[in-house]
Amino acid sequence: MQVLFLMYHYFAATEIYNAIRVFIAAYVWMTGFGNFSYYYIRKDFSPARFIQMMWRLNFLVLFCCIVLNNSYMLYYICPMHTLFTLMVYGALGIFNKYNEQGTVIAGKIIACFLVVILIWEVPGVFELLWSPFTFLLGYADPDPSKAKHSPLHEWHFRSGLDRYIWIIGMIYAYYHPTVERWMEKLEEAEPKRRISIKMIVVIISLTIGYLWVEYIYKLPKITYNKYHPYTSWIPITVYISLRNVTQHFRSYTLTLFAWLGKVTLETYISQIHIWLRSGVPDGQPKLLLSLIPNYPLLNFMLTTSIYVAVSYRLFELTNTLKSAFVPTKDDKRLGHNLVVAVVMASILYTLSFVLLKVPQMLV
Ligand SMILES: *[C@@H]1O[C@H](CO)[C@@H](O)[C@H](O)[C@H]1NC(C)=O
Ligand SMILES: *[C@@H]1O[C@H](CO)[C@@H](O)[C@H](O)[C@H]1NC(C)=O
Repeated sequence: MQVLFLMYHYFAATEIYNAIRVFIAAYVWMTGFGNFSYYYIRKDFSPARFIQMMWRLNFLVLFCCIVLNNSYMLYYICPMHTLFTLMVYGALGIFNKYNEQGTVIAGKIIACFLVVILIWEVPGVFELLWSPFTFLLGYADPDPSKAKHSPLHEWHFRSGLDRYIWIIGMIYAYYHPTVERWMEKLEEAEPKRRISIKMIVVIISLTIGYLWVEYIYKLPKITYNKYHPYTSWIPITVYISLRNVTQHFRSYTLTLFAWLGKVTLETYISQIHIWLRSGVPDGQPKLLLSLIPNYPLLNFMLTTSIYVAVSYRLFELTNTLKSAFVPTKDDKRLGHNLVVAVVMASILYTLSFVLLKVPQMLV
């Protein structure tokens, strides 16, 4: 998914726009799935774990924003995943003593749906809720054709597309052990029964998948986007069913993709700066970085290898610094580190502010 997503940006492959929407939905689905499983099973709601998660998601992007004076929303994947991670954390963290009870989980899932409906479906609520955070989530696209949009438009669009799929991820995570038990039973069943059940699953999945492709996927971009929040669970579910239908399918993975999957976030952020170019501050990257002009393929190979290597390095840096600054089992030291970080950041901010102002006053 990540490879296609990046290729889509690099080659401006607008013909696969709808597929890219599905891939991003699949990521948000995984945010719901992974985080639900983690908090449901490990029950680790500690501040250390929480801050480590926020660090992993926002460390690199924070420095990109500070150093380049870019908007947080330019890297919309970060605020979006941060939001949905927080929602899952909140959903499971509140009254987590009662998470063992099925009815409580059901109640929480319904509450998640209601919150999403309230914020995204009721007109005006989104603006009311987020307008105090415009300084953080606002985005003014330097592209003149997009100048008419309100500052929160980008955030509304991006967060709205995948507003439900993280909840679907949570539901799937909740039922995952049950379905896994069914699957084990099925594998042990007599061959005739096993094969016929699997055939039924395959036929149903393929039919639904076909109908989805025919009637939803093929719609033009703008219309498709309207249906996307309500339908993205269909291709995801079809994929899960088909992939899990035989143990053989299930056991195949590609090491290269697994490796790239680890540095997804870094490849996403750094593509904007060391693979593509925008030409204006805070702009969407629409140009390609060119180190070997007139040799597009050579240039592609060179910039891609630099880009992937740098992304991997950034991933390692993020994790090394994370373990240095966010101790796992020492909340007191974590508290001290936090205070020092806030003090240091304030001093540096004030200093840079003054240094920016002084030359202006001297003029
Ligand atoms: C929670 O979601 C975030 C965002 O997708 C992800 O980076 C993180 O790995 C997830 N946590 C777990 C425990 O899966
Ligand atoms: C489906 O397959 C994946 C491996 O590709 C596995 O992790 C997952 O547990 C399987 N799902 C079920 C419900 O068994």
